[in-house]
Amino acid sequence: MTGGASPTPSPSARRWGEHDLGRTEIRDTYRADLRPTTRDVFAASRPVDFATLDWRDIGRPHRVENWAAARLSWEAGNGRTLPVPDAWKMFNRSFQHLFDTDPVAARAEAFRAAGIRLRRAELDAARRAIGEVARWTVWNQAHRVGDTVWDPRAKRSLFDGLDLRRPRVLFLGAADGYEAMLLSAMYPGGESVLVDYDDYCRDHRFGSFPTDYPFLGVDPATGSPRVWHRDQMDLSYLVSDIRDLDFGPEFDVVVSIGLVEHFPDEHKPEAFDWHRRFLRPGGYAILTTPRVALRTRMFYRLFGDLMNFSYRELQTVEQLGLYAHENGFEVLRHGEIKTHNGVVCRPR
Ligand SMILES: C[S@@+](CC[C@H](N)C(=O)[O-])C[C@H]1O[C@@H](n2cnc3c(N)ncnc32)[C@H](O)[C@@H]1O
Repeated sequence: MTGGASPTPSPSARRWGEHDLGRTEIRDTYRADLRPTTRDVFAASRPVDFATLDWRDIGRPHRVENWAAARLSWEAGNGRTLPVPDAWKMFNRSFQHLFDTDPVAARAEAFRAAGIRLRRAELDAARRAIGEVARWTVWNQAHRVGDTVWDPRAKRSLFDGLDLRRPRVLFLGAADGYEAMLLSAMYPGGESVLVDYDDYCRDHRFGSFPTDYPFLGVDPATGSPRVWHRDQMDLSYLVSDIRDLDFGPEFDVVVSIGLVEHFPDEHKPEAFDWHRRFLRPGGYAILTTPRVALRTRMFYRLFGDLMNFSYRELQTVEQLGLYAHENGFEVLRHGEIKTHNGVVCRPR
């Protein structure tokens, strides 16, 4: 295991503060959003008794199987299945490229390239460039305008109202660490440990996460809304396989965002056990998985070459809740956020 705090980028001169509460702004690569959350994803959710739910009633999750060309070519060249950790390395670099790029500028460039290729009658190249135009258009809407990936407003609703004071949070498969930062703002004064076995996540996905990104949270002294930035939080990043962690049951929250849907059913018990093993008695496990919907199915089809390197399911909130229930958790709350399902649970 290698570990330690990440290098913290220097703060930018102009950061949002309390006078910006209620504001939102679309920046070059993302939306900053300090509007309070008004939609309670739990209140809007249909009540479900997970103890009586049956797989025959809800069906099994949808599997995404249009594999990235890079995965297929690796497997053709090596004559074996792409190992999962290598698949994650490919995924993280490819996905992060989307976050790092100004989608409007990239779309204009792809549009220009398509025109040049068409004029030269280079039809394959023109088709690829038009695909790029489509992807940057969708990514611009999905992330930069619609904020459906970070989704701070709905995630605040998911994380809200937990009985936590200065919590210790463990984030499994932390990638860019976003949700640990959101939790730190909402429940300040504690500590978060982020874990991912891809060092690119610590060094780049999390390492270069913008210091001027404003997280809406609370001031512990007054209970009033307060703006937090990553360099005001106690975050450490471990590069480790989750299987190698030697923590005891010492965390108030164990969270994962888009992790358990990457485990076929025979491996789900192990993945859920990770969420139980490190929890202190009374602690919360919070899990989200991507929702099955026309929108998400279209997204993984259009972005197959950039996203689909390893096993992935799209689930309903009932399916996520039933997996949690049959793996020994009591589902305290469940709901749908913009593109994911969310559950808050406790070991039974
Ligand atoms: C799908 S990503 C989570 C989605 C994330 N919110 C994002 O923005 O990409 C899952 C992360 O878990 C990590 N991961 C998967 N299996 C792991 C394991 N056994 N130990 C540590 N990290 C793991 C991957 O490297 C990847 O960064």
